[in-house]
Amino acid sequence: MEPQRIVLGITGGVAAYKAAELARLLVKANYAVDCVLTEAATHFIGVATLQAITGRPVYQSLWDARVANGMPHIELGRNTAAILIAPTSADFMAKLVHGRADDLLSTLCLARACPLLIAPAMNRQMWEHPATQRNAAQLSADGTTVLGPATGKQACGEDGLGRMLEPEDLFVALTAFLQPKPLAGRRVLITAGPTFEPIDPVRGITNTSSGKMGYAIAAAAHAAGAEVTLVSGPTALPTPWGVTRIDASRALDMLEAVEQQVAACDVFIAVAAIADYRPATPATQKLKKSGHAMTLELVENPDILARVASLPNAPYCVGFAAETDAVLEHAAAKRQRKGIPLIIANRAQDTLGADSAAVTLIDAAGQHPLPEAPKTEIARQIITYIAQQIR
Ligand code: CTP
Repeated sequence: MEPQRIVLGITGGVAAYKAAELARLLVKANYAVDCVLTEAATHFIGVATLQAITGRPVYQSLWDARVANGMPHIELGRNTAAILIAPTSADFMAKLVHGRADDLLSTLCLARACPLLIAPAMNRQMWEHPATQRNAAQLSADGTTVLGPATGKQACGEDGLGRMLEPEDLFVALTAFLQPKPLAGRRVLITAGPTFEPIDPVRGITNTSSGKMGYAIAAAAHAAGAEVTLVSGPTALPTPWGVTRIDASRALDMLEAVEQQVAACDVFIAVAAIADYRPATPATQKLKKSGHAMTLELVENPDILARVASLPNAPYCVGFAAETDAVLEHAAAKRQRKGIPLIIANRAQDTLGADSAAVTLIDAAGQHPLPEAPKTEIARQIITYIAQQIR
């Protein structure tokens, strides 16, 4: 398949050096990347760097004769999936708002027939200025997607809103933007990660779930256009771009968060590895050893998925079954027992904590194996399948 073409616009700002990393990520993901720099951008990043990373010419001038018809402002916008300007300076935002066309990048934006995304980057006060805020609102109203800015330490020494989103976040946001949106207008609620059931204030019962699959499913659902809420046990993972995350440590916390959110959702995907049992009465102070054997009384946790599936207006419910043996048989039985339309079976010892997985989707129509692939890819295929089922 012909690679999709992206125009990566770069304007003047310290964050321009991060555009090189963004270009690298896009090239690695098989996009053809054409960089277009403003004059100011060339003070912050070298043309040779971008040329080497993208393996393609870098453009700066309206009068660039290398482009076939001698009209780079038209030609570069043709057959282009999107223009992403990262970083976008305050000045360039103002230019876009007014439809000015006095250099290649601004003229290209005005002449384009493809979506435009911008990643603002500037000093905190410049971002907060009413003029910039007005411009950001106007650009959104004009159909431009404004990504960020993020908050944090700035090159000028100040701290606040105005940092460009990190290249990885921009990459995820752009690739998500370009994907089909079969879940547009749908709300998806997901549980992910392990639970932690306290024994005393410093100890507890947990498991080896990393949360990677649940987080990948949340990212894939968002990329498919859904509004996503992720109820997460303790993990070390960053919240996927565009996803609302609610932290919940114990199974009972997860249940409470799910019960608060579930009425509004169309799909519920239970990926979390929830402890089946919790200590009956966690100690309020650190337990001391007594020199004798110790017995811990455990009580059963509620089955969140089964509860949601039995609600009168239940969403489309999806469960996971990580089994060590007789994987498909146990998973199929679990699907029946929990009264859910779809369960995803996998071998626990291969999947827990890993970056890739092989799974089998089991529903009323039968079994659909998905061969081993990175969890991000498996997540995308699962979401595509769910979108087909609820269509
Ligand atoms: N699940 C849940 N609430 C629980 C336990 C599990 O919502 N208290 C969900 C999991 O998120 C998963 C599915 O139910 O989607 C299956 O979880 P699993 O631990 O494999 O099954 P259990 O119901 O615990 O059954 P068993 O102990 O027999 O394996």
